[in-house]
Amino acid sequence: MNASKNILITGGAGFIGSHVVRLFVNKYPNYHIYNLDTLTYAGNLENLSDIEGRSNYTFVKLNICDTFSLSKFFDLVEFDGIIHLAAESHVDRSISNPGAFIETNILGTVNLLNLARNQWKDKLEGKRFYHISTDEVYGSLGDTGYFTESTAYDPRSPYSSSKASSDHLVRAYHHTYKMPVVITNCSNNYGPNQFPEKLIPLVINNIKTKKALPVYGKGLNIRDWLYVEDHAAAIDLVFHNGKNGDTYNIGGSNEWKNIELVKKLCQIMDTKLGREAGESEKLITYVTDRAGHDMRYAIDSSKIQNELGWKPSVNFEQGLEKTVDWYLANQAWMDNILSGEYEKYYEAQYKER
Ligand code: NAD
Ligand code: TYD
Repeated sequence: MNASKNILITGGAGFIGSHVVRLFVNKYPNYHIYNLDTLTYAGNLENLSDIEGRSNYTFVKLNICDTFSLSKFFDLVEFDGIIHLAAESHVDRSISNPGAFIETNILGTVNLLNLARNQWKDKLEGKRFYHISTDEVYGSLGDTGYFTESTAYDPRSPYSSSKASSDHLVRAYHHTYKMPVVITNCSNNYGPNQFPEKLIPLVINNIKTKKALPVYGKGLNIRDWLYVEDHAAAIDLVFHNGKNGDTYNIGGSNEWKNIELVKKLCQIMDTKLGREAGESEKLITYVTDRAGHDMRYAIDSSKIQNELGWKPSVNFEQGLEKTVDWYLANQAWMDNILSGEYEKYYEAQYKER
């Protein structure tokens, strides 16, 4: 049995965070998991309804930018580890409103670093500040090559720039103040509970409701997709076994052109919904490209594979099937999101394209 620990997970009501919280609450009954989340449009406690009443789990509604309240909270609980996922995470929103990304992703991260540093000032031994980041900090690849841990940072969207900035600050606190940190940079995730503004859930929902499937540009951009539970398993490994001060890249070795991926989803959904083959593909609509759209992301994950023994366990075919099944079985979850604010975002985002 693992020694008892207080673990703070930020952003635990979001997509990836909810899978990480569930894994830790279930796997480590000796840990107390504090899920700190301000519940932006992307945060949803329904994602965690199955573990809500568990004795080793506490939800705390707090904004990481609210220094005063955050510091009061740090006065109450002494943490052994912090797994920091809270962020503004959608590239398209960062293009229309970069300020929110600077605040949460940069200033919010610095707040957490400062409070952790203050709490741990005389006892760094055994502590860990784990910053969750993205492969988008490395910029955009051409037809060949992979992002490694030593690829130079070249972020090109307000989102990736704000994440890159936070990565630099986390490393700076390690070098300057000896903060015990670890960082991972992961490729695109997919799976249950992903907010439907991201490509895969958006397409699943639009196929179901027979709405246009908006493909940016020519649909030739490439992403490296990883099933969210494989990311959560990697986070568990790195949190416990990662080397202090190190960075690990996490990816699915699973590159897909957007248009091929959308067609694949159409095929799966036609079968599941009993529609004629080819019916959903007719919904594909090419729309104006995203400004500054990165062409290709692809991760070399050999370091985490060789050093920590991680590898993805869910193949893409199975992962997509599981994801589609989850969305079809959880229409109420989707309906709650589709009402209200998100509807306004969708109108504004796709009306002009
Ligand atoms: P998400 O948008 O689904 O969830 C983000 C969560 O953070 C939400 O619950 C939201 O309420 C919370 N949050 C936002 N601002 C906050 C604030 N100021 N204070 C407290 N909580 C706040 O994001 P996600 O896709 O789950 O991503 C989680 C992390 O993983 C992010 O740091 C993101 O950069 C990183 N990441 C995501 C992907 C991906 O494909 N989704 C890939 C690599 C890395
Ligand atoms: P997204 O899920 O927003 O993730 P990211 O921008 O972090 O990679 O988008 C994945 C890819 O799909 C990206 O190349 C943009 C493209 N895309 C579309 O073609 N249409 C859409 O409606 C969306 C949301 C994304």
